[in-house]
Amino acid sequence: MAFNFISAAEAASIIKHGHNIGLSGFTPAGTAKAVTAELAKIAELEHSKGNPFQVSVFTGASTGDSCDGVLARAKAIRYRAPYTTNADFRKAVNGGEIAYNDIHLSQMAQELRYGFFGGIDVAIIEACEVTADGKIYLTAAGGIAPTICHMASKIIVELNSAHSKNMMGMHDVYEPKDPPYRREIPIYKPSDRIGTPYIQVDPKKIIGVVETNWPDEARDFAGSDPVTDQIGQRVADFLTADMKRGIIPASFLPLQSGVGNIANAVLGALGREKSIPAFEMYTEVIQNSVIDLIRAGRVKFGSTCSLTVTNDCLQGIYDDIDFFRDKLILRPSEISNNPEIVRRLGIISINTAIEVDLYGNVNSTHISGTKMMNGIGGSGDFTRNAYISIFTCPSIAKEGKISAIVPMVSHEDHSEHSVNIIITEQGVADLRGKSPKERAMAIIENCAHPDYKEILWDYFKLSGGKAQTPHHIQAALGMHAELGKSGDMRNINWAEHM
Ligand code: COA
Repeated sequence: MAFNFISAAEAASIIKHGHNIGLSGFTPAGTAKAVTAELAKIAELEHSKGNPFQVSVFTGASTGDSCDGVLARAKAIRYRAPYTTNADFRKAVNGGEIAYNDIHLSQMAQELRYGFFGGIDVAIIEACEVTADGKIYLTAAGGIAPTICHMASKIIVELNSAHSKNMMGMHDVYEPKDPPYRREIPIYKPSDRIGTPYIQVDPKKIIGVVETNWPDEARDFAGSDPVTDQIGQRVADFLTADMKRGIIPASFLPLQSGVGNIANAVLGALGREKSIPAFEMYTEVIQNSVIDLIRAGRVKFGSTCSLTVTNDCLQGIYDDIDFFRDKLILRPSEISNNPEIVRRLGIISINTAIEVDLYGNVNSTHISGTKMMNGIGGSGDFTRNAYISIFTCPSIAKEGKISAIVPMVSHEDHSEHSVNIIITEQGVADLRGKSPKERAMAIIENCAHPDYKEILWDYFKLSGGKAQTPHHIQAALGMHAELGKSGDMRNINWAEHM
């Protein structure tokens, strides 16, 4: 079958006000770009004529500016799920303009199939190759592409020559059956292949192919600094000690690592720590640091949903594909983040907290309880099911005006039942096997910044001390209230909150 090659503008014109659109990609890696950029122009034109034009967007995770950024600025998004990192999108969400549903990334594809969000009108899929018999070869991410391809009646392919055809063969496309027919997902080690290297669709559904040459929009990470280096070293030391105690097997266990500056620094430190053997990763995002570790022989294998790397790093992978072919695999997000597999493989999860409370509850998403930062991403998929779940964060934010250790989290993403270890640059709190009061003492003593230790001890004493989980309910969010009032949590006077 010969494809209908169309422009991005023609493709965008197929999308109508009120449509549900599904996008390939996971982070800016592998996301459709050209059609959404044109869609924003259509929305602006329609708005200038006084017509409504908004769509609902479903993706694997965040996208780049050519999707979330332009669409948010054009006020073209009514509803979106799941995770996003774009600053303009964040502004629109916190300004009440967009309905944003922050759900666990492993659940996005299945909840679409279950019908929780209605159907998908148009799927826009970035590919490095598409064949006449309907085989779509994805680029730098798996995301929810298989599911939206199957659900959508219309598929637009962005055939992006910025991605090498060397990517063909790197994906393992697998979609589980839905209950009551679901069986085990037969992955027993990170490198297991269980699917096909392409998405098979009915070629008649591919209503247009848009040829582009548009590099991924992954951001570079800030270099490490003394604080992130110290956190990284503490993670490495903690894991080494657990291995020496026999808690972690000598052959080690697969790691999952979160996104962002801290995660990048943690992986760098793990790579340098030679007492940790070369290890495998079963994770959702591979950043530059992991590619360096694969080249250095410190990471033996990486299973991921996306290659969220800088473009020069991605080009390096394409150029060296023979080296990387048996060391990397890309999976759909419902497989890369699947709780069943996380628990079976015994993954050690390392994610970043915004704030942690005295009892080990973690907030990963909301600033001062109300303002969305990015979203929960895959942190819940991994944390809840990990062999050991670790959260890292600097002990303070904003030049010390904010303590990351607070009496009660202002929003909860990960409950005390799922969180094992807290690591700040100050030290490590091992919460395993501890009661709530024992946890509070370990967290204040080991993780809080010196500026906040007395403040937190004072709260702990004032909270009564005898209950299972001591709290003074009026004062529990006092440090957040103080931040709102004076701009600095250090000014807290507990007496004013009693
Ligand atoms: N109050 C207010 N702001 C805070 C804060 C707090 N308690 N803690 C951190 N911040 C701010 C930082 O100051 C920084 O602000 P800036 O961008 O203006 O400099 C910003 O949050 C990011 O923090 P940073 O320390 O640079 O860490 P990061 O880049 O590693 O991001 C998260 C941290 C938590 C925002 C990020 O990891 C995230 O979104 N996690 C949730 C998703 C997830 O865990 N996915 C993992 C599976 S891959």
